Order: sequence, then structure tokens, then C-alpha cells
Amino acid sequence: MIELRELTMADAPALQRIYSGTSLKYIERRPLSIDEAVDLVANTPSCARAEPRDRWAFGIAADDDLLGMVRLRCRTERHATISYLLREDSWGRGYATQAIAGMLRHAFNATGLTSISARHHPDNIASGRVLQKNKFAYRGIRDGWPLYGIHKTESSTP
Ligand SMILES: CC(C)(COP(=O)(O)OP(=O)(O)OC[C@H]1O[C@@H](n2cnc3c(N)ncnc32)[C@H](O)[C@@H]1OP(=O)(O)O)[C@@H](O)C(=O)NCCC(=O)NCCS
Repeated sequence: MIELRELTMADAPALQRIYSGTSLKYIERRPLSIDEAVDLVANTPSCARAEPRDRWAFGIAADDDLLGMVRLRCRTERHATISYLLREDSWGRGYATQAIAGMLRHAFNATGLTSISARHHPDNIASGRVLQKNKFAYRGIRDGWPLYGIHKTESSTP
């Protein structure tokens, strides 16, 4: 069981570990330095203060261990993209599926968003799978990457 929570400065070393190694293979990012990890945490509260708010970022934690990040970025007032990343040694336990489910609940219950989309590297089968398990619909290939989307419905706001 995972929880989504706000990041604190104490999370910077854990974030640096998350943004490293094989986890970066499919997301076109280079490893995070400790200074960049500190900046990432420092910028998260300023996201929370922006008005209107246009992004959300939560840490993914299990048993007080920070394992990953899930983020929403608004593209319009009603539409956002979602991205996620988990530390490699935590893959394959259903954590990303749970984290995306939690972020969807947040998006559709606590913000004005009505649709979310996501894309993933064509070789990243696991990423497509976690979207499918969260009822995202496949929309086709855009710029070479599979694209998925989901709309807010009555059933998505329990
Ligand atoms: C993609 C990622 C988030 C998945 O995290 P995870 O916690 O391992 O995902 P889950 O355990 O919730 O689910 C993974 C699903 O993919 C399946 N899967 C994993 N590798 C697979 C493969 N090579 N082929 C087919 N299915 C695969 C698993 O079997 C599981 O599906 P199932 O429950 O039906 O069996 C994680 O691998 C990661 O952080 N990758 C690097 C960053 C990234 O790619 N982010 C996504 C782009 S935004």
C-alpha cells in the first residue's frame, strides 16, 4: 500500500536516488544532482502557491520510504498531463498503478480538471500497462509515442 504525500527538504537524497539509473531510460532525463534534487523539492511549494495552480507533484511512499514521484501539469484550464517515476528496486509491486489511481482521484475530486493524458516511450510496456489498468483509453501514436487519455466521469469520482 502506498501513500501520496507532499515532499520535504529531507526527501532530496531519496529523490536523487529515484532519478537515477534504469529509471531514466525511458523518460529522456539525465540523473539528478543533489543540488537539482534540492531545487525540485524547493520548487514544489511554489507550485502549490501559484494561482491559478497549474501543476501538482506528490511523492510516492511506502512504509515511510520515498519510492517515486507522480506529477500533473496543466495544459489548459481543464486538461493536464500525468507523469510518474519509481525507483527501480520498487518496480513490479503495483505501486505505479496505485499512485496513478490516487493522482486521478485527486485530479478529478480536488481540482477543476476534467481530462488527463499521458504518453510513454514505445518500448516502455510497463508504463502503458499501468495506464490501461487505470482505465486510460489508447488514443494512437503521437510523434512516435503511444498516447493515452481519460475523462472525468461519475464513476471516477467516488
Ligand atoms: C513504468 C513504471 C512507473 C511502472 O511501475 P511499477 O510500479 O513497476 O508498475 P506496476 O507494478 O503498477 O504495474 C506494472 C505492469 O506492467 C507489467 N509489465 C512490467 N514489465 C513488462 C513488460 N516488459 N512487458 C509487459 N508487461 C510488463 C507488469 O506485469 C504489470 O502489469 P500486471 O499487473 O497486469 O501484471 C516504472 O517501471 C518506472 O518508473 N519506469 C521508469 C520511468 C517511466 O518509465 N515512467 C513512465 C513515463 S511517464
